[in-house]
Amino acid sequence: MVRLSDRLSCVAGLIPPEGAVIDVGTDHGFLPVYLVENCPGRRVGASDINPGPLAHARESAERYGVEERIEFYLSDGLASCGAGWDAVVMAGMGGETMADILAAAPFPLEGVKLVLQPQSKLREVERYLEGIGFGLSAARLALDAGRMYVSFLASFGERSRSLAEALFEGRDPRLFEYLAAEAARLRRAIDGMERAHGTPEGLLEAREELSRINTMMEEIKRW
Ligand SMILES: C[S@@+](CC[C@H](N)C(=O)[O-])C[C@H]1O[C@@H](n2cnc3c(N)ncnc32)[C@H](O)[C@@H]1O
Repeated sequence: MVRLSDRLSCVAGLIPPEGAVIDVGTDHGFLPVYLVENCPGRRVGASDINPGPLAHARESAERYGVEERIEFYLSDGLASCGAGWDAVVMAGMGGETMADILAAAPFPLEGVKLVLQPQSKLREVERYLEGIGFGLSAARLALDAGRMYVSFLASFGERSRSLAEALFEGRDPRLFEYLAAEAARLRRAIDGMERAHGTPEGLLEAREELSRINTMMEEIKRW
């Protein structure tokens, strides 16, 4: 059986237990291998834009004897992956690439669950998802090789809530650490905006988010 890193385990834990699932930008293919090993009979896809990583994914599947059970696609995002996917997973890519891939999806995303672990531009991904009617159903943190990773499950029509709120609702054990770093980031951003003339766009929003985070940190101290 394949053993996932803490980072990928966190992603796997957010994938709905049933339905067809595709890992876009799969590279080594460990996640699809894990999914077929742990959910026999499930339709699982693995795609990558580059032939080298896709070959790497095939090799992993062969090593674990599951190559017949995974559909492999050489594809830019979802463009050449067919349809019928109930969940789309993307991890280890920048947030902008993820948003571009979703924007170019050749099928409607409304019924599709999205499990994402962006390496950058988290806020932009959140905003993009909100703009297309998706909200965060759950979020989790993973600490892997000294770096904190945020993963979340987004669903169409879900109530809008920030990543911090979704993590708070899930009582993530690493939440205080994450919020402290977020609060520091927001304070730096607010200081910069306050030094600018006028009322820069985003200042009010950043102050509100900082206030919510401070309240959550106080609440966590009482858990
Ligand atoms: C850093 S690896 C991440 C691998 C794995 N998902 C993980 O989290 O460990 C990123 C992979 O995404 C692929 N990729 C980048 N842009 C892509 C796109 N537009 N469509 C599909 N794959 C893409 C790259 O070729 C690379 O193999």
